[in-house]
Amino acid sequence: MPQLDTDTRFDPDELTAVAVAVAQEAARHVRTRRPEVFGVGVSNDSVPQAVSTKSTDTDPVTIVDTESEKLIRGLLATRRPGDSVLGEEEGGSVAVPSGVRWVVDPIDGTVNFLYGIPAYSVSIGAQVDGTTVAGAVVDVARGVTYWATRGGGAFSDDGSGPVRLRCNAVDEVALALVATGFGYAASRREVQGALIARLLPRIRDLRRVGSAALDLCMVASGAVDAHYEHGLSPWDWAAGSLIAEEAGAIVQIPSPTSRGGDGDVTLAMAPGIADDLRALLAGIGALAPIPVQQDAS
Ligand code: IPD
Ligand code: CA
Repeated sequence: MPQLDTDTRFDPDELTAVAVAVAQEAARHVRTRRPEVFGVGVSNDSVPQAVSTKSTDTDPVTIVDTESEKLIRGLLATRRPGDSVLGEEEGGSVAVPSGVRWVVDPIDGTVNFLYGIPAYSVSIGAQVDGTTVAGAVVDVARGVTYWATRGGGAFSDDGSGPVRLRCNAVDEVALALVATGFGYAASRREVQGALIARLLPRIRDLRRVGSAALDLCMVASGAVDAHYEHGLSPWDWAAGSLIAEEAGAIVQIPSPTSRGGDGDVTLAMAPGIADDLRALLAGIGALAPIPVQQDAS
């Protein structure tokens, strides 16, 4: 890995400041545009021109996802000319480039955004050689910013000042509240559903919030004890996994070249339950990838 503290192009504090500022500006745009595009109390199917689909008919993209990514790319180009960008909507190179790469989810939780469920986020991570060194996730509806710098801790701010994040001190898997999520491909969902049938009787309960980036921040803040999901792409996990890790979570992420279709598992677990939860997940076959044919992730 490059010398992060001696090479100013890779100054992690500077990368964190950029991630926070750009994610907050994109979040303001997303917050403003939802009532403009979908109205208040207006059913989302009354504005079909604002929505199209991606990997499957259940995988939506709205014009606000597209606008948000365009805005983020423009801001990054101004503030960090020469860096690479990988974004959920416009893509980027599969190979890990040299230098800094920004990994961007312009709206994570697009289904929630579409339906008006207040759990969607903007997620921006800065990777160096495929390792996230800085990241920010903004919970758009609640107005909470989460951020972390590798080695520098994880924080959140709801407007009343920064708060250092720590995972829960839970030490019994049977009492763990576990967040998860599902891909968009029916074949993967069948396997995910079968795994849940085996896991659910052995833990406190499950949560399916609908934004993997927020799930990972919830592990960091102690709003859940763990998160696992198969088939996340780098834009889903880049920032949130660092925030969870810097809050003390034991984290396992896919390789930076892996994409949703590969079906690799992402894990973030409060340290006191990590070994036992990993063993439980291994025992039910939940650590193996759940690939899908095309990138229906
Ligand atoms: C999705 C969300 C969801 C997760 C899916 C992701 P999107 O991202 O993070 O929680 O379960 O696997 O694809 O499509 O809203 O950007
Ligand atoms: Ca996403």
